[in-house]
Amino acid sequence: SSRVMLGPLVAAIDQGTSSTRFLVFNAKTAELLSHHQVEINQSFPKEGWVEEDPKEILQSVYECMERTCEKLTQLNVDISNIKAIGVTNQRETTLVWDKETGEALYNAIVWLDLRTQSTVERLINKTPGRNKNHLKHKTGLPISTYFSAVKLRWLMDNVDEVAEAVLTHRAMFGTVDSWLIWCLTGGKSGGVHCTDVTNASRTMLFNIHTLDWDPELCKYFDIPMEILPKVRSSSEIYGLMKSGCLSGIPISGCLGDQSAALVGQMCFQEGQAKNTYGTGCFLLRNTGAKGSVAIAGAVVRWLKDNLGIIQTSTELEKLAASVGTSYGCYFVPAFSGLYAPYWEPSARGIICGLTQFTNKSHLAFAALEAVCFQTREILDAMNQDSGIPLTQLQVDGGMTSNRLLMQLQADILCIPVVKPSMPETTALGAAMAAGAAEGVSVWSLRPEDLSEVTSEKFEPQINPEGKGHVKHSKRCVGSLSC
Ligand code: G3P
Repeated sequence: SSRVMLGPLVAAIDQGTSSTRFLVFNAKTAELLSHHQVEINQSFPKEGWVEEDPKEILQSVYECMERTCEKLTQLNVDISNIKAIGVTNQRETTLVWDKETGEALYNAIVWLDLRTQSTVERLINKTPGRNKNHLKHKTGLPISTYFSAVKLRWLMDNVDEVAEAVLTHRAMFGTVDSWLIWCLTGGKSGGVHCTDVTNASRTMLFNIHTLDWDPELCKYFDIPMEILPKVRSSSEIYGLMKSGCLSGIPISGCLGDQSAALVGQMCFQEGQAKNTYGTGCFLLRNTGAKGSVAIAGAVVRWLKDNLGIIQTSTELEKLAASVGTSYGCYFVPAFSGLYAPYWEPSARGIICGLTQFTNKSHLAFAALEAVCFQTREILDAMNQDSGIPLTQLQVDGGMTSNRLLMQLQADILCIPVVKPSMPETTALGAAMAAGAAEGVSVWSLRPEDLSEVTSEKFEPQINPEGKGHVKHSKRCVGSLSC
């Protein structure tokens, strides 16, 4: 059979907390041609600890690439049309490896991990006025368990192999992007040790004004600068794929997944914002301000794996919709403390407002509301900071296929929620960055072309008198006014 004639293609590796994906887009139309996804195991060796296996992460990337190439070949698409590969990744997750052996020296410590809570408390106690924002003028971040510097400190203090490798100048630190790019471009035989500004900005070692590692911050956390990757822009050729079905193709895009989604959603105008519903919920606005909710999709996994009230994630919507209200039950899933705007690592989850009448459907509804209420809190904080209230929210991520959640979100925010019909915006953003660096005209970045992107709009249907069809409206208006 004959080859399908297509122009240049651009690809993205999307390495998230729960899964890895490889996706290939038509560079002219941004159409998703093929993809493959592999789940990632998480281990919880102690309460509050979350780890992943660096080797498994790397293997999952190769597997997704190989399978996608096979699928494209079956579709008669010539894989030599793939001109560039972008990397996008779960941010903050911290790795240290040995550059001589190419082996990771410990599991990846996942962004959600809370093992550094006492270190964080100690650091905050040492600041004048016990101020968690002590480093904010340089980093834009509060001192928290979330960011990489404290995780790296823990590795150096608690893992002998890491301490030894640092002493003998064999250690390399990186977030997942750095680990992957280093391995994919050759690893111990010539791999490129780099990261991009978006990933670097989540480490607490990066100065957001100079756009480079900050010697003072490194000194503050006592981290030798020689173990850090080189900071590069998000769109340039870092190196070439060394092996596998895409050997020789440039890796030319790199962005943390939340920044990539902002690009993929075309939020290029000041004031535009997007919210991605992944393991957590991440709202980014074009002004540079940003906010994170630790637990979003993770609450669905918890209801499934820990409580067993649903068998599959998709059942949640049906269960919640069957009652259409939480019946006064509130669920605060602060499993890993509270992130923005509280930054309180000692917070823990609660479920309250229970009566004898409460059943699992109400709990399911309360879980969905929790995601929406947390997003509302971030948006309120952003609106207050910028002084310009957002008029609509662009959304993406796995949970956006839950229509009840989307409607609830519009109701609770009191603004329309707009969901693009192509949900893989994170990968698209990384593929766009990769294509741009390779001179492939990927996708017009002109705002007037935005109308070409088809989307679905959820209008708020809340009735301030409490008579609307949304049963929870009274309570929503009561606790959070529009
Ligand atoms: O900050 C962590 C974030 O980048 C993880 O994203 O999509 O894996 O939940 P996700």
